[in-house]
Amino acid sequence: MTALRPIRLVVVAGARPNFMKIAPLVRELRARPRFETCLVHTGQHYDRAMSESFFRDLGIPEPDLNLGVGSGRHGAMTAQVLAELEPVLEARRPAAVVVVGDVNSTVAASLAASKLRIPIAHVEAGLRSFDRSMPEEINRLVTDVLSDWLFTTETSGGDNLRREGIPEEKIHFVGNVMIDTLTANLARARELDTLERLGLEAGRYAALTLHRPSNVDERETLAALFDVLEEVHREIPVVFPVHPRTRAAIERLLGSHEPTLRTIEPLGYLDFLRLMSDARFVLTDSGGIQEETTVLGVPCLTLRENTERPVTIQEGTNTLVGSDPATIRAEVRKILDGEAPRGRVPERWDGHAAARIVDVLERDLG
Ligand code: UD1
Repeated sequence: MTALRPIRLVVVAGARPNFMKIAPLVRELRARPRFETCLVHTGQHYDRAMSESFFRDLGIPEPDLNLGVGSGRHGAMTAQVLAELEPVLEARRPAAVVVVGDVNSTVAASLAASKLRIPIAHVEAGLRSFDRSMPEEINRLVTDVLSDWLFTTETSGGDNLRREGIPEEKIHFVGNVMIDTLTANLARARELDTLERLGLEAGRYAALTLHRPSNVDERETLAALFDVLEEVHREIPVVFPVHPRTRAAIERLLGSHEPTLRTIEPLGYLDFLRLMSDARFVLTDSGGIQEETTVLGVPCLTLRENTERPVTIQEGTNTLVGSDPATIRAEVRKILDGEAPRGRVPERWDGHAAARIVDVLERDLG
């Protein structure tokens, strides 16, 4: 009997929110003997706290290759990933390239693969904020139009893709790989001494993250947001791990007026999961955190005007509050008065999304 030929894949990751998505995929691929997986890190995120600590916390193997592109303007960064990845893909000629999420590395890898006619699998396809001022929305639209397998996390994803004319047979509703990672790691996170280290008591603080250009790039918006967040902080401590982009914006735009919140360095995956899971509520402009809080049953106030993840509002614990101080104040009040939405876990967010994805790839490429 002749051995079956291996299925060679290249999996690409570049920025913090990619790492928790590739972790279960790489584990599942490496557990199946048919697959030969090459992991490429673009280097979009490079700080220890933004990259290495996630690989360590989540047991992701060392990347086979790091393109080392670093930070830069969006066009230049995207072009650099494209230029560095092209010869890698040309040499390896994988059966498919797997990309996740919506960061610049995602769209760059998709462009590189499509020019070489290498099929693309997009994990977390179909999400739409319908707001093209968000760089991620452009990345999502372009990646999806180029992809051959579109793995969706929620039913709105499939609806959006069908509306855009993507054929039904390319769309696979598989659930949420980021939730695979959350369910696999929650017990470990709960054993950590994160709260003790920070001097916090479960249920008696709020956690905040903030990094979107629309919130942090202009002085007036940022200052107004901090004004209302400081008000909240006077009622319940607000713990704020500061993203490097936001740290730079605070220094550039607010100078000596550091917000009087409980600011800390960015946390690793497990510490942040612990922080979220015991928070009274979370304030954020992140995409993924809206989903994680929904699964944890922790109320989430999203500091944005829209979301590409509507299931977190319809079924989960998420409320959009934008940046309007009165709305933020009112929604915080509701939570403190015990009126927060409890929500339920959306369909197929059950810890098995990566297995479903790899089943489809094995069937189609085997
Ligand atoms: C990127 C993603 C965003 C995601 C976010 C999570 C895009 C368009 N945006 O935004 O979708 O929600 O990651 O973190 O891809 N920096 C460091 N160290 C690092 C990485 C970045 O100091 O390891 C600083 C640099 O000053 C850099 C800035 O952060 O210029 C922005 O980094 P960049 O990767 O461009 O975008 P993010 O804001 O991190």
